[in-house]
Amino acid sequence: MKIEKADVLIIGSGGAGLRAAIELFDNKVDVLVVGKSKKREAHTRMAAGGINAALGNMDPEDSWQQHAADTIKDGGFINDPVAVKLLCKHAPEAVKELDKWGMKFNKTKGKITQRFFGAAKYRRSCFSGDITGLEILNTLVDQVDKRKIRFKSEIYIFAILEKGGKVNGAIGLDTNKGEIIVFHAKKVVLATGGHSRMFSRSSSYFWENNGDGIALAYDLGARFMDMEMFQFHPTGMVYPKEVSGLLVTEAVRGEGGVLLNTKGERFMEKYDKKRMELSARDIVARANYMEIEAGRGTKRGGVYLDISNEPCEYIKERLPQMHKQFGHYDHIDICKDKMEVAPTAHYSMGGIKVDHKTGKTDVPNLYAIGEVTAGAHGGNRLGGNSLAEILVFGKLTGKQLVKDVKKAKDSPLDEDLVADLVSIFETFTSSKTGENPTKAKEALQRLMWDHVGVIRDEKSMQKGLNALEKFKNMELKIPGGLKKNEALMNALDFKAMLPTCEMILRSALMRSESRAAHYRKDKPKTSKKWLKNILCSVSDAGDIELSTEPVPKMAKEIEKMIPKEELKVHLLE
Ligand code: FUM
Repeated sequence: MKIEKADVLIIGSGGAGLRAAIELFDNKVDVLVVGKSKKREAHTRMAAGGINAALGNMDPEDSWQQHAADTIKDGGFINDPVAVKLLCKHAPEAVKELDKWGMKFNKTKGKITQRFFGAAKYRRSCFSGDITGLEILNTLVDQVDKRKIRFKSEIYIFAILEKGGKVNGAIGLDTNKGEIIVFHAKKVVLATGGHSRMFSRSSSYFWENNGDGIALAYDLGARFMDMEMFQFHPTGMVYPKEVSGLLVTEAVRGEGGVLLNTKGERFMEKYDKKRMELSARDIVARANYMEIEAGRGTKRGGVYLDISNEPCEYIKERLPQMHKQFGHYDHIDICKDKMEVAPTAHYSMGGIKVDHKTGKTDVPNLYAIGEVTAGAHGGNRLGGNSLAEILVFGKLTGKQLVKDVKKAKDSPLDEDLVADLVSIFETFTSSKTGENPTKAKEALQRLMWDHVGVIRDEKSMQKGLNALEKFKNMELKIPGGLKKNEALMNALDFKAMLPTCEMILRSALMRSESRAAHYRKDKPKTSKKWLKNILCSVSDAGDIELSTEPVPKMAKEIEKMIPKEELKVHLLE
């Protein structure tokens, strides 16, 4: 079997993994990046409207403290305050670095232009039209290529290796060649993204964000936090069916777009009169959902988003991709026509519990960065904060690893473990009886959408949890071998999705209140009693165990930026 060695193995080739790799390489650490997608196709490219950094270019009153306050308020006050401080303090330098590396930001009089995103006090989102994620990914890949950093694409990692309880590599399938590869490393980083493909309508590529990083960490006994907190973006495409859920950037609303129901009402007045379309994402997503449920949506199940009041030249300059996307798929001109939009599964706030200063998980030698982790966004993420997160924590974890790798000793591979894992994989992938994996995956995604979606309640979630049992015991039939086999990919995804689905359902049942993105119609109020994080761990018997921890206090300099009335609801007695 082929063995690849490196001091640090990074699993995931999006922005977080690449930024960590650059830091390691620049400090002379032998690093290897492996990604599930092709080189420039990681999910980072799908992020559209902006990256937040308190540069104060448009609104000089902005500060990192205000950015942190907005992040914590939007997160329902359960964010990890250390993570928020690091994120907001370091975001400006991350954006300046991209600018130095040649990224094509929109600029005004030589300075990076910033626009409004939902729930932000000031214009803080820096952007490159409406393809900010794509430009960031391309800028990072260019830096990786310039340095000739080792990189392998189309690798599906299916297990992490360890010896004596310490991680020392991983094992994966080269999906292009159909070949199993063992990766032997001193340290392993999960930069595998989130789990928005747990749900049937999602803004992700169908092969991304299937929770595979969560499943890898779960098998090693890592802990997870706030898994019930999942973000539905208010505006995904509705039509045609093939692109249902595809992101319609918040920047449309940031640039003046308004939401209308089929009665022509600007309905956000009812849900947040002050902030309207630029309210928090959870509020706008719920508003869209409720308008559709109440029968004020379109026949195809959407509401309208209209930016035709802005000059066409402006729309084409600020939102070129949206103009193209709707022209191409829906055959409409957004300069004149209304877009049809509906909520779509977008971002996982919950994930692996890490120490954000170092990127360390509870498992020795295993680190995690980006969307696969929990804490930075609490119960709801501000639009534009994820692109900042991947760069800030990619770099910080890279720095930590430079120190840790120097002290690390070589640990030989556990050959028995490798043989066992290969044999389990071969048995799984050669199964000739069972369900069709693609259909099984779709059914699981529907279960999650129907039972723990935008609006939840105990009865429905319990039903969903009971129905999950059948999926946990499901056998899959996988014809077609190991090479370029979509059924096999879906089978691996399906298997990886199961622990994430269960942790989401169990945590959402436990949190008996509504807070941030977690909205229960049977418990619509936020309760001070629930100012807590929910943790999931795996018992020795392999069951999920839930517990709670109080949220650490935020720094005074951040707290003082939050109006007393808002603090009173959440924090003050
Ligand atoms: O709507 C958007 O452009 C999404 C951005 C984000 O999720 O950060």
